[in-house]
Amino acid sequence: QIIHSTSISQSNKSSIHIPAYTIVDEPRFGWRGMLLDVSRHFFDIEFVKKYLDIMAMYKLNVFHWHLTDDQGWRIEIKKHPKLTEVGAWRKGTGKEKWDYQIEAVVDGDPKYGGFYTQEEIKEIIQYAKERYITVIPEIELPGHSWSALNAYPELSCTGTPWIRPEETPWEFTDPFCPGNEKTFEFFENIFSEVIDLFPSKYIHIGGDEAKKTPWTKCEKCQLRMQAHNLENVDELQSYFVKRIQKIVNSKGRKIIGWDEILEGGLAPGAAVMSWRGEEGGIEAATHKHNVVMTPGDFVYFNKPQFDAKLEDAGYNILPLEKIYSYNPIPKELEKENHKYILGAEALLWSEYLYSYEIAENRLTPRIAALSEVVWTSKENKNWKNFQNKLTNHFSFLDEKNVNYFIPPPTNIENDLFVKDDYKVEMNKSYTNSEIYYTMDNSEPTKNSIKYDKPFIISNSVIIKAKTFMLSNRSSKTVTARINKTAYQKNKMIDNLQVGIQAKYFTGNISSVNDFDNMEFQNVIMLNNFTIPTNIEKDFFGIEFDGYIKILEDGIYTFYLSSDDGSKLIINDKLVIDNDGIHGMIEVKNKVALSKGYHSIKLIYFDNKFGEGLEVNVSSAKMEKQIVPSSMLYHKN
Ligand code: ACM
Ligand code: ZN
Repeated sequence: QIIHSTSISQSNKSSIHIPAYTIVDEPRFGWRGMLLDVSRHFFDIEFVKKYLDIMAMYKLNVFHWHLTDDQGWRIEIKKHPKLTEVGAWRKGTGKEKWDYQIEAVVDGDPKYGGFYTQEEIKEIIQYAKERYITVIPEIELPGHSWSALNAYPELSCTGTPWIRPEETPWEFTDPFCPGNEKTFEFFENIFSEVIDLFPSKYIHIGGDEAKKTPWTKCEKCQLRMQAHNLENVDELQSYFVKRIQKIVNSKGRKIIGWDEILEGGLAPGAAVMSWRGEEGGIEAATHKHNVVMTPGDFVYFNKPQFDAKLEDAGYNILPLEKIYSYNPIPKELEKENHKYILGAEALLWSEYLYSYEIAENRLTPRIAALSEVVWTSKENKNWKNFQNKLTNHFSFLDEKNVNYFIPPPTNIENDLFVKDDYKVEMNKSYTNSEIYYTMDNSEPTKNSIKYDKPFIISNSVIIKAKTFMLSNRSSKTVTARINKTAYQKNKMIDNLQVGIQAKYFTGNISSVNDFDNMEFQNVIMLNNFTIPTNIEKDFFGIEFDGYIKILEDGIYTFYLSSDDGSKLIINDKLVIDNDGIHGMIEVKNKVALSKGYHSIKLIYFDNKFGEGLEVNVSSAKMEKQIVPSSMLYHKN
């Protein structure tokens, strides 16, 4: 790092001079990890080496290799060759992009996948060791195991392979059967080979999100529960984990698993990865188990950095500053138990990483923030300093040909104005970057207008702006339509009553534009834009119809959050389109409204799984809040 930053500052010289240094430093935590999921997408060993090089630059020391999951088994096991012959390849439904990254023809069928031979695994372990990185293998059980059970279906409760439903490609699959002794023989063989390969003290055994319903219907599982006085399937999972722990311990190693392994009781010596928030970590550390913190809100690097709508529908974005702010010691944890927090790890799940470039884009420069989270004492962390320090890192990443994330200009978005002029202001996220913009609808280049300070416009414009790095790499373009407008006229309506009318429909649709295919049920009166309480919570739709009362001329921002799709219409014009099947996503837009009543319509549907609806409003005079019942009316 010193050589690198010195070579930048002395780039005009033929040789560089480095002063003598004494470095006094130590990391805050011993476990400084990065996970790579190679199941959902396969990454070849060249990419894995590049990943390790980046980890080494940031002084991280645990490479958590997520080698198995529903979508692919990636490690050669000599005793069970079908794990890779069958389990490393999958056929797509034709809908998922990840099926198009690498295709191979297996048995005449095009399939996606890949795996590492044991020789390649050894090569990676050695490569990591030379960089002071320990490789922790993860073999998922009892759930997330479709690839293995598709190869050896006799180890599931039904004995038959789970067939992936067309419309929901990867819902939780059936688990291994803990009622069957052969399951444990199988894992004895697998862990025997895995432990021969990997010298790590900990072996990760997964344990998350196991669907336990097949165990309640399985005769063998029920007999197992009776024989061991197990009260429920949580205790059966605990039994499963303890049997695996015995296997791993007998070979001189310890297990670590996702926080679900706490359910039903955890045997001494097992370590926990706290991913569903911090609760599992607090519970485990309180009971004197070692813990690695991996909470979804702070270190899920698979989450996009900028626009949640853009690629990974259903995810919230995870900004760099949020990662940087993370403290792996939970506030609620008693001081005497702080020592059980071994450290933290960021997780790069690969469902949506359909190219190496995207993987690098989610990893960097976030990994620099993670490095400070696990290295730097709380007192020495400083966001502004960190931003300045990043400057040198971009040239390092450029040199290594890493596709690091460049944020587009911020603080510039679609807006409205009714006065004579409007101040355009943009912010950049990286110190050593520049913003260029256009106002003629063309793509910004370094020959466009350079932004150096706020400026005034007096007519409607479309601004396109882009961040450029010194290396000429650039961000995505942001497009902001800034429109000069007049306040929309109010409606003179008699006999308005408080409350809003909601037409309730049932049916299976995937777009708000398909209400024609829904069955009308009844009309419900509501005080807010909410989902009525006493209805069936899947496959339904609501059409809200009424008026919104505006107390003062102004520009009003509406925020529409829904799971699944929705759209908002004011004065017969579409204001927000939040359509499609997705998790809770917020989309906002502005409208200039005059004092008085305006017609408002909201169309919402839910397909399967979770549901949610929330409409907020704000203006210069009004804090963001749920549209209050005092603003909603309907015609009598
Ligand atoms: C996980 O994200 N299921 C560990
Ligand atoms: Zn069973």
